[in-house]
Amino acid sequence: MKKGKKLYEGKAKIIYATNDKNLVIQYFKDDATAFNNQKKSTIEGKGVLNNRISEHILSNLSQIGIKNHLVKRLNMREQVIMLVEIIPIEFIVRNVATGSITKRLGIEDGTVLKEPLIEYCLKDDKLGDPLISEEHILAFDWSTKKEIEKVKKMILRINDFMIGMFRGVGIKLIDFKLEFGRLKIDGKDEVILADEISPDTCRLWDSITDKKLDKDRFRKNLGDLIPAYTEVAKRLGILHEQSNVSAVNVTKLSSIKRKQQ
Ligand code: TMP
Ligand code: ASP
Repeated sequence: MKKGKKLYEGKAKIIYATNDKNLVIQYFKDDATAFNNQKKSTIEGKGVLNNRISEHILSNLSQIGIKNHLVKRLNMREQVIMLVEIIPIEFIVRNVATGSITKRLGIEDGTVLKEPLIEYCLKDDKLGDPLISEEHILAFDWSTKKEIEKVKKMILRINDFMIGMFRGVGIKLIDFKLEFGRLKIDGKDEVILADEISPDTCRLWDSITDKKLDKDRFRKNLGDLIPAYTEVAKRLGILHEQSNVSAVNVTKLSSIKRKQQ
């Protein structure tokens, strides 16, 4: 597969064309942003860890029948994915109230929700990804009733699966963000899971201590982001204790890779 020109650069990833018009390469950068780009930094090794963690979660989701854009991981920072038309909505799934909902609605931090709560945000950086309702989505044709119904069913299965997967390794899945894309499969319109699922897009707390193992370490200046993401990867069985791929080595490997590019 040949890597072609850059098609799009987002805050944490770059998309490149390939010689197959249906496939693109997704490159995971080390850039970290928060609060709609107001806070920015580069955290060496983050892209490598997110590439591996997202690959692991998406391939597990495939195995339970959740169609998604991942074709295969190519190397430490890149994966081949299907080209989709991204639905311009960020689907936020919450199991425990924290983050923006606690400020917006005055809900106490850490409140366990009776049922998973799905929120919709318009994917528009200039507007700061505002919260929208299903009525807005239909009124402005950002998606259709049929797509939203399909997506909601997928979200609940994804949430159930991920809660179990993380619980098994001593992590609470507090909340996360998903994106979906449209494509034609055998001439039929389909909606599939897209983007990434990683500690950048989830809130993950240690089951016993509630230690944050996600991007809140950056958002809240808690430090030690790479050790936290490495811990998630190790617990999921992606990085093995014996393999010696410590945070330091991930960092070293990622800078070697960068020099080669
Ligand atoms: P929030 O509490 O800031 O609304 O975030 C809810 C979840 O969604 C949290 O796991 C972080 C994730 N998220 C993203 O992945 N990207 C975003 O742009 C935002 C705002 C949240
Ligand atoms: N991803 C968003 C940003 O870059 C917000 C966040 O993750 O907190 O600003």
